[in-house]
Amino acid sequence: EKGGYDHFMLKEIFEQPKALSDCLRGRINAEEGTVTLGGIEGIMDQLVNARRIIIAACGTSWHSGLVGEYLFEYLAKVPVEVEYASEFRYKEQLIGEGDVMIVISQSGETADTLAALREAKSRGALVLGVVNVVGSTIARETDAGVYIHAGPEIGVASTKAFTAQVTVLTMMAIKLGLYKKTIDNKEAKKLIGELAQIPAKIEEILESTDEIKEISNLFSYAPNFLYLGRSYSFPVALEGALKLKEISYIHAEGYPAAEMKHGPIALIDEMMPVVVIAATQHTNDKMISNIEEVRARKGRIIAITNPGNEEVEDLAEFKSIVPETMDVLSPLLTVIPLQLLSYYIAVNRGCNVDQPRNLAKSVTVE
Ligand code: M6R
Repeated sequence: EKGGYDHFMLKEIFEQPKALSDCLRGRINAEEGTVTLGGIEGIMDQLVNARRIIIAACGTSWHSGLVGEYLFEYLAKVPVEVEYASEFRYKEQLIGEGDVMIVISQSGETADTLAALREAKSRGALVLGVVNVVGSTIARETDAGVYIHAGPEIGVASTKAFTAQVTVLTMMAIKLGLYKKTIDNKEAKKLIGELAQIPAKIEEILESTDEIKEISNLFSYAPNFLYLGRSYSFPVALEGALKLKEISYIHAEGYPAAEMKHGPIALIDEMMPVVVIAATQHTNDKMISNIEEVRARKGRIIAITNPGNEEVEDLAEFKSIVPETMDVLSPLLTVIPLQLLSYYIAVNRGCNVDQPRNLAKSVTVE
């Protein structure tokens, strides 16, 4: 059932090229520059006219929502707020007609997410789902939605659901951008063409895991980890830290790289592994200064970067290289080494990778 892998998590990490191909199949056309999403074709007018989009989710799905915020704002110029589903209900309820809520859930059964969905719906918002499990409660209760088609995810640590959620959000943002004319056909063709190459690029990352294994072996007994990223890489930093926390029980924090100087930089010494995600061109110079700050305090730098990024490579003690892509699509690649890092560290520490302590695959209590 684990298909020859030691754990479901590893199997699911390696399934990502296929999961994303399944997710994209029949939905994108790179020659024409079009995106077809059967589940939301009928509500596109409402989506186009949305005053704002509120994304509600928990855990890893909340992280993909944060990537979604960058995607929708950049490609479709619509304001987006990302809420922890569990907090949404306790805020002043300013949501209503003209607003669109997107709920993201792998299981489709998360109680907090379901509660946010019901609250938004009762106030007249249009609620869309980005869900994996077909026919789940969230899928049934949303007004419309897009399945991620990642296949069953058994490991408690979410991996392929994250990349498939981000893939769906990317397709939705391109589609909305085309409707709103905030991107033109030429840009759409480029984005879709690049998106179509993502499964093969993930395959490439998965073909050589030696560097990540070596880094995992060196840092398996570190008590703390920091993950830093900017822009599209910031949610990836949060996701990398969550993966490490939940399966290896190492304390880890993800931060926007520039926030470091407002506090967390005090934590850095020669004992602290700092994972920096430096694989987006538009933030490269700024990331280099952040890496220099860490280096000056003797932090152990592990860089996730692109081929030929010599400045980053020179500054980092360790590196893991991911293929180049457009900045907007980079989370789909940069998260892969972080999933592997947490997996190999957890295995080294003898942890129960697929069923970490205190956690359940779907959290059906509020
Ligand atoms: O099924 P959902 O996507 O609604 O689940 C949300 C979170 O409980 C989930 O992502 C959790 O954070 C994972 N264990 C993360 O790996």
